[in-house]
Amino acid sequence: MPAAPRPTIKPPMWLLAELTYRCPLHCVFCSNPVDYIRHQDELDTSTWKRILGEARALGAVQLGFSGGEPLLREDLEELVAHARGLGFYTNLITSGVGLGERRAQALKSAGLDHIQLSFQDSTRELNDFISSTRTFELKSRVAAIIKAQGYPMVLNCVMHRFNLPHVGRIIDMAGRMGADYLELANTQYYGWAWHNRAALMPTVEELRDAEAIVMAHRERLDGRMKVLWVSPDYADAKPKPCMAGWGSLFMVVAPDGKALPCHSARMLPDIDFPDLRGTPVRDAWYDSTAFNRYRGQGWMKDACGDCDEREKDFGGCRCQAYLVTGDAAATDPVCPKSEHRGRIDAMLAEAQAERSQQALCSAPAQPLRFVPGASRRA
Ligand code: FES
Repeated sequence: MPAAPRPTIKPPMWLLAELTYRCPLHCVFCSNPVDYIRHQDELDTSTWKRILGEARALGAVQLGFSGGEPLLREDLEELVAHARGLGFYTNLITSGVGLGERRAQALKSAGLDHIQLSFQDSTRELNDFISSTRTFELKSRVAAIIKAQGYPMVLNCVMHRFNLPHVGRIIDMAGRMGADYLELANTQYYGWAWHNRAALMPTVEELRDAEAIVMAHRERLDGRMKVLWVSPDYADAKPKPCMAGWGSLFMVVAPDGKALPCHSARMLPDIDFPDLRGTPVRDAWYDSTAFNRYRGQGWMKDACGDCDEREKDFGGCRCQAYLVTGDAAATDPVCPKSEHRGRIDAMLAEAQAERSQQALCSAPAQPLRFVPGASRRA
């Protein structure tokens, strides 16, 4: 008999199935592990089905099929049909590469509920440059296919210094494409974005200008298309309630079967994340040291322990704390109460200084500094 769940731990509501780290795009802000080459094993279809069944039995209701590019998995339709049969609400999170009319129809027949399509910009030049692919026209066609087949559609665009000046045009583009929801996700600095942060980070003024444009469009749209502006937490100096709290609502399952509290957690040292190839989802969620490590408030120290905000931000982001301070248990360094806030301010100042240099050089052709070996082609 499985052990009864601890009363204070709620079941996971959201399961993110990262079916593969493979991806045809090479976005400079990708949150895939930078050492993804070490994690190329992928679960087979029957193991995924078992995991989905266990998660659903535990209480999960929302399921995202993500990656990498989940359309690279030939068993995607089979997994969608299985998930639908279990009663999940299913969402495909995709670059659009590989989503022609026939596949969109097959996924619809399998029971797919919802599609989130990424764009990198409203211009072909920047979209294609940021992703190192010629995909702008393809994505535009895919958006039309999604709408023609009656799916609810979210457009997602990761925002950074290069496309923030286009924010109004991105909103117009999403409106023309019939998006139900537009997510303007300011870059979160993990994975490849962390390595490219000096090139991607906008100035505070650029963020404020863009936010004002977003607010004006929201008023104009009057709810016809929802526009989400994901807080640029470095500039806002406000810890985000990352994953609604570690081990609180979300479980991410990596392509090789590791269960993670967030998509970036596997880079944290000294944590043995449960492997769902041999561990039941229930045990991973309730009993693993990994999911209990930063659950609740008992781990909080320094400024977080007696902060009034801890019920709202859950201590912010552990991955960010680790990347910036070297200590995953430290106060999120974006917080003004963190003793490390100066490091964030220094990065913002550096971004400002670098922009001045670029303006002086007037060299927009290749402004991004790519990390050597950054190609993610499998
Ligand atoms: Fe890992 Fe925030 S991204 S805790």
